[in-house]
Amino acid sequence: MYIQAVKSEIVSHISYFVAAKAEAFVIDPRRDCGIYLEMAQQVGAKIAYIFETHRNEDYVIGSVELSKLSGAKIIHGPGLAWKYGETLIDGSEYKVGSMKVKAIHTPGHSPDSSCYVLYDNETGDTPFAVFTGDTLFVGDVGRTDFLGSNNIARMSDLLYDGLHGKLLALGDGIIIYPGHGAGSVCGGSLAERDISTLGAERQMNTMLNLDREAFVKFKVGERHEIPPYFKTMEKYNLEGPPILGQTPKPRGLKPSEFKAMMEKGAKVVDIRSPPGFGGAHIPGSYNLTTNRLNNAGWVIPLDAEVLIVAEDAAGVEFASRNLFRIGYDKIVGYLAGGVEAWYKEGNPLSKIDMITPSILKTMIETGEVVEVIDVRRYNEYDEGHIQSAKHIYLGRIPDRLEEIPKDKPVAVICKTGSRSSFAASILLRAGRTRVYNTLGGMDAWKKLGYKIVF
Ligand SMILES: [Fe+2]
Repeated sequence: MYIQAVKSEIVSHISYFVAAKAEAFVIDPRRDCGIYLEMAQQVGAKIAYIFETHRNEDYVIGSVELSKLSGAKIIHGPGLAWKYGETLIDGSEYKVGSMKVKAIHTPGHSPDSSCYVLYDNETGDTPFAVFTGDTLFVGDVGRTDFLGSNNIARMSDLLYDGLHGKLLALGDGIIIYPGHGAGSVCGGSLAERDISTLGAERQMNTMLNLDREAFVKFKVGERHEIPPYFKTMEKYNLEGPPILGQTPKPRGLKPSEFKAMMEKGAKVVDIRSPPGFGGAHIPGSYNLTTNRLNNAGWVIPLDAEVLIVAEDAAGVEFASRNLFRIGYDKIVGYLAGGVEAWYKEGNPLSKIDMITPSILKTMIETGEVVEVIDVRRYNEYDEGHIQSAKHIYLGRIPDRLEEIPKDKPVAVICKTGSRSSFAASILLRAGRTRVYNTLGGMDAWKKLGYKIVF
């Protein structure tokens, strides 16, 4: 049997290709689905099934296209109005090569959430692994707020049933293959570890050690953000997304062409590092460093034309592919020759003033900075922040601009300086001129031993 995890870095999504005896299945294929066909060819297997663990909210799923290309049957859970595929019945079994896959319905993260238990028929009728989607992660469980605040308690109660009544009942030795790794927004604090078993999770995953009442209470108290692009992902994934047949191939543009497209409304995503962006960038561009590209979904509509600024061709390809995975289809061009080509033509540049935590500390003490904006997630802020820092999650900045002083110095901070560079780029676009980005962020602040409060 061949089990291969396929990771998509930005949304920390993990899909799986599994083959045995000339047949294969795929769990939660990503949008650029050619990789599964290549794997099938390599191992000489035909993809017979595509199993969906749930509708997914944070990326476009590739099932429809993969099914068209491979002839595989799509199976998904009950509870939502899927417009394609076949709805499983709790306990249904599927034969794939020498494997058996048993579907179990575990609603909670979403109404259709399902897990798939894997058996190797050649070694008996004992399960040995389970694909858990966003029901159970290594170190965490799925968030339960997608149906709105009125339903969190009910969905959390269902999740508890699925985890304890169905998943853990499979036995401690079962290997788990979750739908996301660390960094995903589909849970709270996923562990960095790739591998786990139900037994290891029973011992180490604190969410599995709460009784029902405490579990529901904890889930109701969680604070997650829902970026606006999730709505479109939900619609795409239930109805079938646009099929492009390939990832976007942006065209290399001369500065004059690039400028003309910007004037027509195209949005600029600059993926360079915060110091590079802060030093010199095209006015109006967003700084979305490679590992934070999904934050584009907070500020750039999915139907917008997108232009890329990167250091090299690999950066352009990386950005195009990863933006495509979250639903951006109009990635129309990149700046050929990068920022250098731009300024060599005499075009204007913007910059962000960059400071270190030690400078920030002095500026706070002397009153030089009047407002410190901490743009991290709620749970990060709650785990320790600068006393005077105001919390505005980065995605909420456009809605809360009036809370940020217009003509006085403002410093932004996150964990390391990347997300705050994005936040600073939003503020610059909104006309703020006195914005400092704190390089090193709270990580460096803490390393210096400076005071934090909770
Ligand atoms: Fe999810």
